[in-house]
Amino acid sequence: MQKVSRRDFIRTGSLAAAGIGISAEKLIGAGNQVRPVKVGVIGTGNRGTSHVSNLLTIEGVEIIAVCDLFEDRAKNAASICEKNGRKPPSVYFGDMNAYKKMLDKEDLDAVIIATYWDSHSSIAVDAMEHKIYPGSEVPAALTVDDTWKLVETSEKTGIPCMMLENWSFRQDNLALLNMKRLGMLGEIVHCHCAHSHDCIDHWFFDSKTGLDRWPADYLRKYNRDQYPTHSVGPVISWLDINRGDAFEEIYSRDSASKGINAYFKRKFGNDHPNANLTYKQGDIVTSTLRTKMGKTLVINYDMQLPRPYSNRWMLQGTLGVYYEEKGMIYLTDISPEYHQWEPWKPYEEKYNHKWWQKDLSSQSHGGTDYVMLNQFINAVRSEGPTPIDVYDSAVMTAIVELSGISIEKNAPVPFPDFTRGKWQTNKPYFALDSDKA
Ligand SMILES: NC(=O)c1ccc[n+]([C@@H]2O[C@H](COP(=O)([O-])OP(=O)(O)OC[C@H]3O[C@@H](n4cnc5c(N)ncnc54)[C@H](O)[C@@H]3O)[C@@H](O)[C@H]2O)c1
Repeated sequence: MQKVSRRDFIRTGSLAAAGIGISAEKLIGAGNQVRPVKVGVIGTGNRGTSHVSNLLTIEGVEIIAVCDLFEDRAKNAASICEKNGRKPPSVYFGDMNAYKKMLDKEDLDAVIIATYWDSHSSIAVDAMEHKIYPGSEVPAALTVDDTWKLVETSEKTGIPCMMLENWSFRQDNLALLNMKRLGMLGEIVHCHCAHSHDCIDHWFFDSKTGLDRWPADYLRKYNRDQYPTHSVGPVISWLDINRGDAFEEIYSRDSASKGINAYFKRKFGNDHPNANLTYKQGDIVTSTLRTKMGKTLVINYDMQLPRPYSNRWMLQGTLGVYYEEKGMIYLTDISPEYHQWEPWKPYEEKYNHKWWQKDLSSQSHGGTDYVMLNQFINAVRSEGPTPIDVYDSAVMTAIVELSGISIEKNAPVPFPDFTRGKWQTNKPYFALDSDKA
């Protein structure tokens, strides 16, 4: 009998005909084993390697191919599979297009894309054209045009496209989502979030030499919110974006760019080439977004000044306010003292999301990456929708270019409606937890 691969099955249009709904029997293969999911990893630097290790802890995942520009990085990722007792994956390397051979030759169900920012969207589009689920690192694209290409390709091929925004899956953020859905904060009116993470001393530049790493180029060329998805990830579902509400416009302002030069002067001296170079990127970008239903959201980009890490999530409704940075909450008629904060942790435990039932604290990012990848793999295995769909991936991603345009114009910019009006009738969908909310 001829072997029919999952990709052949999807190619016949069965996925589209089935309305890409999750069916329990698709999760189980022969002998009651979970059905294997064949994964390729493209981009095996820091993040891609971490994904390889995490994927190997998920039942049924087979990493059958890895790809990087550099041979040693691809081989290193392959060796992690072997050290874990797995069949060695095929190794692809050499240039920007090596991944295309991998998509053509390998029988893949999904690819994880952890390359430089500029190739995420084109690789995801190619994967969908090959009927392979893409799980793309953040951001999923760099321009609004490329974001539309993701949406259109996903619609045309019927293949879901998920941006791997891990902070959407954090235990605290999911517990808050349960509480929001129970109406405990009332009607949501306002939200604040930030990506406050000093990445000058290790990610944009090499920490020992101060030499550029690939993202440094973006700081010279652009002035915008370069990295909005970690801050805005959980916010999308708290505000019902794409499901009952939609972003209407974005207005972004920038501060002066002082932090990068100051860092190089302090650490490497005035003669270091980067101590006096002009960087377009302002130190703090503040974007205000308004939704069609009248909610407001403030997002801070804050990645080049010395400071401890923070996301400063704050969610405010007609019955109360959650304040992540303080670790506090206040709920009308529930909090014991009138207009006084109370600790958040007991709420996190009480409204703990079903995805967080086991202790995952030893895993990367405290288990959040595992929860995210596990949900992505479940979606692939069931040939169903991914927990973050292409529309949610698109709104988070579009902030990158739109914030830059707004700064340039010093004016609000309309936000595209990637759902083409479906936000009005779409129902909440991310991380539904029937046990709690
Ligand atoms: N979600 C998170 O918590 C998190 C954390 C760190 C990084 N990231 C994201 O992960 C991505 C990778 O970041 P990183 O820190 O691992 O960078 P990195 O430089 O360590 O790794 C990127 C790798 O991609 C490879 N690559 C680039 N283009 C390629 C192509 N066309 N084909 C094959 N390989 C290619 C490079 O050779 C490199 O090894 C970025 O988008 C970054 O924003 C996310």
